[in-house]
Amino acid sequence: MIKRPKISIVGAGNVGATAAHWAAAAELGDIVLVDIVEGVPQGKGLDLMEATPVVGKDSYVRGTNRYEETAGSDVVIVTAGLARKPGMSRTDLLVKNAEIVGQVAENVARFSPEAIVIVVSNPLDVMAYVAMKKTGFPRERIVGMAGILDTARYRAFIAMELNVSVEDISALVLGGHGDSMVPLPRYTSIGGIPLEQWLPQEKIDAIVQRTRDGGIEIVNYLKTGSAFYAPSAAAVQMAEAILKDKKRVLPCSVCLQGEYGLSDVFVGVPVVLGKGGVEKVLEIELTEAERDALRTSAAHVHESIAQLT
Ligand code: APR
Repeated sequence: MIKRPKISIVGAGNVGATAAHWAAAAELGDIVLVDIVEGVPQGKGLDLMEATPVVGKDSYVRGTNRYEETAGSDVVIVTAGLARKPGMSRTDLLVKNAEIVGQVAENVARFSPEAIVIVVSNPLDVMAYVAMKKTGFPRERIVGMAGILDTARYRAFIAMELNVSVEDISALVLGGHGDSMVPLPRYTSIGGIPLEQWLPQEKIDAIVQRTRDGGIEIVNYLKTGSAFYAPSAAAVQMAEAILKDKKRVLPCSVCLQGEYGLSDVFVGVPVVLGKGGVEKVLEIELTEAERDALRTSAAHVHESIAQLT
Protein backbone atom coordinates (compact mmCIF):
# COMPACT_ATOMS: atom_id res chain seq x y z
CA MET A 1 0.00 0.00 0.00
CA ILE A 2 1.31 3.45 -0.85
CA LYS A 3 1.09 5.76 2.12
CA ARG A 4 1.12 9.53 2.10
CA PRO A 5 4.10 11.05 3.90
CA LYS A 6 3.39 12.18 7.45
CA ILE A 7 4.65 15.56 8.56
CA SER A 8 4.39 16.68 12.16
CA ILE A 9 4.83 20.31 13.08
CA VAL A 10 5.51 21.05 16.74
CA GLY A 11 4.46 24.54 17.79
CA ALA A 12 1.22 25.80 16.27
CA GLY A 13 2.15 29.47 16.53
CA ASN A 14 2.92 31.79 13.65
CA VAL A 15 5.76 29.78 12.12
CA GLY A 16 4.23 26.34 12.77
CA ALA A 17 0.74 27.13 11.53
CA THR A 18 2.05 28.91 8.45
CA ALA A 19 4.35 25.96 7.72
CA ALA A 20 1.26 23.73 7.86
CA HIS A 21 -0.42 26.08 5.41
CA TRP A 22 2.47 25.96 2.89
CA ALA A 23 2.83 22.20 3.28
CA ALA A 24 -0.89 21.56 2.76
CA ALA A 25 -0.93 23.89 -0.25
CA ALA A 26 1.98 21.93 -1.72
CA GLU A 27 0.18 18.63 -0.95
CA LEU A 28 3.32 17.31 0.72
CA GLY A 29 1.47 14.79 2.86
CA ASP A 30 -0.74 14.50 5.91
CA ILE A 31 -0.01 17.03 8.62
CA VAL A 32 -0.23 16.89 12.40
CA LEU A 33 0.06 20.19 14.29
CA VAL A 34 1.11 19.85 17.94
CA ASP A 35 1.15 22.46 20.68
CA ILE A 36 0.90 22.57 24.45
CA VAL A 37 -1.90 25.12 24.36
CA GLU A 38 -5.22 23.32 24.33
CA GLY A 39 -7.48 24.09 21.41
CA VAL A 40 -5.09 26.15 19.30
CA PRO A 41 -3.60 23.31 17.23
CA GLN A 42 -7.03 21.66 16.97
CA GLY A 43 -8.66 24.88 15.77
CA LYS A 44 -5.93 25.83 13.30
CA GLY A 45 -5.67 22.26 12.03
CA LEU A 46 -9.41 22.01 11.43
CA ASP A 47 -9.53 25.42 9.78
CA LEU A 48 -6.76 24.36 7.39
CA MET A 49 -8.48 21.03 6.73
CA GLU A 50 -11.61 22.96 5.83
CA ALA A 51 -9.59 25.05 3.35
CA THR A 52 -8.43 21.99 1.41
CA PRO A 53 -11.66 21.47 -0.55
CA VAL A 54 -11.55 25.11 -1.64
CA VAL A 55 -8.02 24.90 -2.98
CA GLY A 56 -8.42 21.30 -4.11
CA LYS A 57 -5.55 19.80 -2.13
CA ASP A 58 -5.63 16.39 -0.51
CA SER A 59 -3.63 16.90 2.64
CA TYR A 60 -5.27 15.65 5.79
CA VAL A 61 -4.56 18.24 8.50
CA ARG A 62 -5.28 17.87 12.19
CA GLY A 63 -4.17 19.43 15.46
CA THR A 64 -3.50 17.85 18.82
CA ASN A 65 -1.83 18.20 22.22
CA ARG A 66 -0.71 14.56 22.20
CA TYR A 67 2.53 13.28 20.71
CA GLU A 68 0.97 9.84 20.25
CA GLU A 69 -0.76 11.28 17.20
CA THR A 70 2.58 12.17 15.63
CA ALA A 71 3.70 8.52 15.69
CA GLY A 72 5.57 7.34 12.63
CA SER A 73 6.22 10.79 11.17
CA ASP A 74 8.61 10.97 8.24
CA VAL A 75 9.52 14.58 8.91
CA VAL A 76 9.08 16.64 12.08
CA ILE A 77 9.38 20.42 11.95
CA VAL A 78 10.16 21.92 15.37
CA THR A 79 8.95 25.49 15.86
CA ALA A 80 8.07 25.32 19.57
CA GLY A 81 9.57 27.98 21.76
CA LEU A 82 9.14 31.23 23.56
CA ALA A 83 9.79 34.69 22.25
CA ARG A 84 12.06 36.92 24.29
CA LYS A 85 10.07 38.91 26.82
CA PRO A 86 11.04 42.17 28.53
CA GLY A 87 13.43 41.51 31.39
CA MET A 88 14.55 38.20 29.94
CA SER A 89 18.22 37.94 29.05
CA ARG A 90 19.41 36.06 25.97
CA THR A 91 20.74 33.38 28.29
CA ASP A 92 17.37 33.02 30.07
CA LEU A 93 15.73 32.55 26.69
CA LEU A 94 18.40 30.10 25.62
CA VAL A 95 17.90 27.96 28.72
CA LYS A 96 14.11 28.06 28.47
CA ASN A 97 13.98 27.20 24.77
CA ALA A 98 16.57 24.45 25.23
CA GLU A 99 14.24 22.95 27.84
CA ILE A 100 11.29 23.13 25.43
CA VAL A 101 13.18 21.79 22.42
CA GLY A 102 14.76 19.07 24.58
CA GLN A 103 11.33 17.91 25.69
CA VAL A 104 10.01 18.01 22.11
CA ALA A 105 13.05 16.04 20.91
CA GLU A 106 12.48 13.29 23.48
CA ASN A 107 8.93 12.88 22.22
CA VAL A 108 10.08 12.82 18.60
CA ALA A 109 12.61 10.10 19.38
CA ARG A 110 9.98 8.10 21.25
CA PHE A 111 7.17 8.29 18.69
CA SER A 112 8.98 8.81 15.39
CA PRO A 113 12.37 7.15 15.74
CA GLU A 114 12.97 7.18 11.98
CA ALA A 115 12.01 10.83 11.40
CA ILE A 116 14.14 13.53 9.91
CA VAL A 117 13.95 16.58 12.15
CA ILE A 118 13.96 20.15 10.83
CA VAL A 119 14.67 22.60 13.64
CA VAL A 120 13.37 26.16 13.34
CA SER A 121 13.22 27.30 16.99
CA ASN A 122 15.77 29.95 17.94
CA PRO A 123 18.61 30.32 18.70
CA LEU A 124 18.60 27.96 15.78
CA ASP A 125 22.06 26.42 15.68
CA VAL A 126 22.03 25.76 19.43
CA MET A 127 18.52 24.30 19.36
CA ALA A 128 19.56 21.94 16.54
CA TYR A 129 22.43 20.78 18.76
CA VAL A 130 20.04 20.20 21.68
CA ALA A 131 17.71 18.23 19.38
CA MET A 132 20.58 16.03 18.20
CA LYS A 133 21.74 15.28 21.74
CA LYS A 134 18.23 14.59 23.07
CA THR A 135 17.06 12.42 20.17
CA GLY A 136 20.36 10.61 19.81
CA PHE A 137 19.72 10.73 16.05
CA PRO A 138 22.69 10.77 13.67
CA ARG A 139 23.65 14.15 12.27
CA GLU A 140 22.12 13.27 8.89
CA ARG A 141 18.65 13.40 10.47
CA ILE A 142 18.87 16.70 12.36
CA VAL A 143 18.96 19.77 10.19
CA GLY A 144 18.49 23.41 11.10
CA MET A 145 16.61 25.93 9.00
CA ALA A 146 18.50 29.20 8.68
CA GLY A 147 20.53 29.39 5.49
CA ILE A 148 17.53 29.18 3.17
CA LEU A 149 15.84 32.03 5.02
CA ASP A 150 18.96 34.19 5.13
CA THR A 151 19.64 33.44 1.46
CA ALA A 152 16.03 34.17 0.56
CA ARG A 153 16.21 37.58 2.23
CA TYR A 154 19.44 38.32 0.40
CA ARG A 155 17.93 37.18 -2.92
CA ALA A 156 14.80 39.24 -2.30
CA PHE A 157 16.86 42.38 -1.63
CA ILE A 158 18.93 41.83 -4.79
CA ALA A 159 15.76 41.29 -6.86
CA MET A 160 14.22 44.45 -5.41
CA GLU A 161 17.37 46.43 -6.23
CA LEU A 162 17.81 45.10 -9.77
CA ASN A 163 14.16 44.63 -10.71
CA VAL A 164 14.76 41.09 -11.91
CA SER A 165 13.11 37.77 -11.09
CA VAL A 166 13.88 36.27 -7.69
CA GLU A 167 14.02 32.92 -9.45
CA ASP A 168 17.13 33.82 -11.40
CA ILE A 169 19.17 34.78 -8.37
CA SER A 170 21.44 32.09 -7.06
CA ALA A 171 23.20 32.85 -3.80
CA LEU A 172 24.77 31.47 -0.68
CA VAL A 173 24.82 32.59 2.94
CA LEU A 174 26.89 30.59 5.43
CA GLY A 175 27.45 30.60 9.17
CA GLY A 176 25.28 30.80 12.24
CA HIS A 177 21.82 32.30 12.10
CA GLY A 178 22.48 35.69 13.64
CA ASP A 179 24.60 38.77 13.43
CA SER A 180 27.63 36.71 12.48
CA MET A 181 26.12 35.09 9.38
CA VAL A 182 28.38 35.07 6.34
CA PRO A 183 26.75 36.13 3.06
CA LEU A 184 29.03 35.30 0.12
CA PRO A 185 28.75 37.82 -2.73
CA ARG A 186 31.47 35.84 -4.54
CA TYR A 187 29.01 32.93 -4.83
CA THR A 188 26.11 35.08 -5.97
CA SER A 189 24.96 35.27 -9.57
CA ILE A 190 21.94 36.46 -11.47
CA GLY A 191 21.12 34.38 -14.52
CA GLY A 192 24.67 33.05 -14.26
CA ILE A 193 26.19 36.56 -14.32
CA PRO A 194 28.27 37.35 -11.19
CA LEU A 195 26.78 39.92 -8.80
CA GLU A 196 29.82 42.22 -9.09
CA GLN A 197 28.88 42.84 -12.72
CA TRP A 198 25.46 44.11 -11.68
CA LEU A 199 26.14 46.26 -8.65
CA PRO A 200 28.91 48.45 -7.22
CA GLN A 201 30.62 47.25 -4.03
CA GLU A 202 28.87 49.76 -1.74
CA LYS A 203 25.45 48.57 -2.88
CA ILE A 204 26.48 44.95 -2.32
CA ASP A 205 27.76 45.84 1.16
CA ALA A 206 24.46 47.53 2.00
CA ILE A 207 22.49 44.46 0.85
CA VAL A 208 24.76 42.19 2.90
CA GLN A 209 24.16 44.34 5.98
CA ARG A 210 20.39 44.41 5.43
CA THR A 211 20.47 40.60 5.16
CA ARG A 212 22.31 40.35 8.49
CA ASP A 213 19.66 42.58 10.06
CA GLY A 214 16.81 40.82 8.24
CA GLY A 215 15.25 39.30 11.35
CA ILE A 216 15.30 42.47 13.41
CA GLU A 217 13.93 44.54 10.51
CA ILE A 218 10.73 42.47 10.64
CA VAL A 219 10.58 42.52 14.47
CA ASN A 220 10.82 46.32 14.38
CA TYR A 221 7.78 46.45 12.11
CA LEU A 222 5.69 43.81 13.87
CA LYS A 223 6.65 44.87 17.41
CA THR A 224 4.91 41.89 19.03
CA GLY A 225 6.36 39.00 17.05
CA SER A 226 8.97 37.91 14.57
CA ALA A 227 9.01 36.83 10.93
CA PHE A 228 6.98 33.80 9.97
CA TYR A 229 6.07 33.69 6.28
CA ALA A 230 9.63 33.33 5.00
CA PRO A 231 10.88 31.11 7.86
CA SER A 232 7.98 28.69 7.43
CA ALA A 233 8.34 28.64 3.63
CA ALA A 234 12.02 27.81 4.06
CA ALA A 235 11.29 24.95 6.47
CA VAL A 236 8.73 23.52 4.07
CA GLN A 237 11.19 23.72 1.18
CA MET A 238 13.51 21.54 3.24
CA ALA A 239 10.68 19.10 4.01
CA GLU A 240 9.86 18.90 0.31
CA ALA A 241 13.49 18.22 -0.63
CA ILE A 242 13.50 15.34 1.87
CA LEU A 243 10.07 13.86 1.15
CA LYS A 244 10.50 14.00 -2.62
CA ASP A 245 14.15 12.96 -2.42
CA LYS A 246 15.03 15.97 -4.57
CA LYS A 247 18.67 16.05 -3.53
CA ARG A 248 18.58 19.83 -3.48
CA VAL A 249 21.70 21.82 -2.77
CA LEU A 250 20.65 24.18 0.00
CA PRO A 251 22.37 26.02 2.84
CA CYS A 252 21.32 24.37 6.10
CA SER A 253 22.59 24.22 9.64
CA VAL A 254 24.31 20.90 10.16
CA CYS A 255 26.61 19.41 12.78
CA LEU A 256 30.09 19.64 11.31
CA GLN A 257 32.47 16.78 11.90
CA GLY A 258 35.78 18.14 10.71
CA GLU A 259 34.51 19.99 7.65
CA TYR A 260 35.85 23.55 7.45
CA GLY A 261 38.12 22.63 10.37
CA LEU A 262 35.12 22.66 12.76
CA SER A 263 33.64 19.90 14.90
CA ASP A 264 30.64 19.25 17.12
CA VAL A 265 28.96 22.52 16.26
CA PHE A 266 25.97 23.37 14.05
CA VAL A 267 26.54 26.07 11.46
CA GLY A 268 25.08 26.85 8.07
CA VAL A 269 26.87 25.31 5.10
CA PRO A 270 25.68 24.00 1.74
CA VAL A 271 24.39 20.43 1.88
CA VAL A 272 22.61 17.93 -0.35
CA LEU A 273 19.14 17.34 1.09
CA GLY A 274 17.27 14.17 0.11
CA LYS A 275 15.42 11.21 1.58
CA GLY A 276 18.31 10.41 3.90
CA GLY A 277 18.23 13.96 5.29
CA VAL A 278 21.65 15.58 5.00
CA GLU A 279 23.13 13.26 2.39
CA LYS A 280 26.29 15.28 1.87
CA VAL A 281 28.01 18.24 3.51
CA LEU A 282 29.67 20.33 0.80
CA GLU A 283 32.99 21.92 1.56
CA ILE A 284 33.44 24.89 -0.72
CA GLU A 285 36.53 26.98 -1.31
CA LEU A 286 36.68 30.02 0.94
CA THR A 287 39.07 32.95 1.15
CA GLU A 288 40.95 33.45 4.41
CA ALA A 289 38.52 36.23 5.41
CA GLU A 290 35.45 34.09 4.68
CA ARG A 291 36.93 31.17 6.60
CA ASP A 292 37.63 33.47 9.57
CA ALA A 293 34.08 34.78 9.47
CA LEU A 294 32.74 31.21 9.50
CA ARG A 295 35.00 30.31 12.44
CA THR A 296 33.86 33.38 14.39
CA SER A 297 30.27 32.48 13.69
CA ALA A 298 30.86 28.90 14.90
CA ALA A 299 32.61 30.21 18.02
CA HIS A 300 29.46 32.16 18.94
CA VAL A 301 27.39 28.99 18.63
CA HIS A 302 29.94 27.09 20.74
CA GLU A 303 29.74 29.75 23.48
CA SER A 304 25.96 29.42 23.64
CA ILE A 305 26.15 25.63 23.81
CA ALA A 306 28.63 25.99 26.67
CA GLN A 307 26.08 28.10 28.59
CA LEU A 308 23.76 25.11 28.64
CA THR A 309 26.18 22.69 30.25
N1 APR B 1 5.55 22.02 23.19
C1 APR B 1 4.85 22.38 22.11
N2 APR B 1 4.63 23.66 21.77
C2 APR B 1 5.13 24.60 22.57
C3 APR B 1 5.88 24.30 23.73
C4 APR B 1 6.08 22.93 24.03
N3 APR B 1 6.78 22.55 25.09
N4 APR B 1 6.26 25.47 24.31
C5 APR B 1 5.76 26.45 23.55
N5 APR B 1 5.08 25.96 22.51
C6 APR B 1 4.34 26.66 21.45
C7 APR B 1 3.59 27.87 21.94
O1 APR B 1 2.41 27.51 22.61
C8 APR B 1 3.34 28.62 20.63
O2 APR B 1 2.09 28.26 20.06
O3 APR B 1 5.23 27.16 20.47
C9 APR B 1 4.48 28.14 19.72
C10 APR B 1 5.41 29.27 19.30
O4 APR B 1 4.68 30.11 18.48
P1 APR B 1 4.87 31.70 18.43
O5 APR B 1 4.97 32.22 19.82
O6 APR B 1 3.84 32.25 17.51
O7 APR B 1 6.32 31.87 17.80
P2 APR B 1 6.71 31.78 16.25
O8 APR B 1 6.71 33.14 15.67
O9 APR B 1 5.91 30.71 15.60
O10 APR B 1 8.23 31.31 16.36
C11 APR B 1 8.56 30.02 16.78
O11 APR B 1 10.52 29.84 15.45
O12 APR B 1 11.56 31.37 14.04
C12 APR B 1 11.56 30.79 15.31
O13 APR B 1 12.45 32.54 16.72
C13 APR B 1 11.29 31.81 16.40
O14 APR B 1 11.92 30.35 18.20
C14 APR B 1 10.83 30.94 17.52
C15 APR B 1 10.06 29.83 16.77
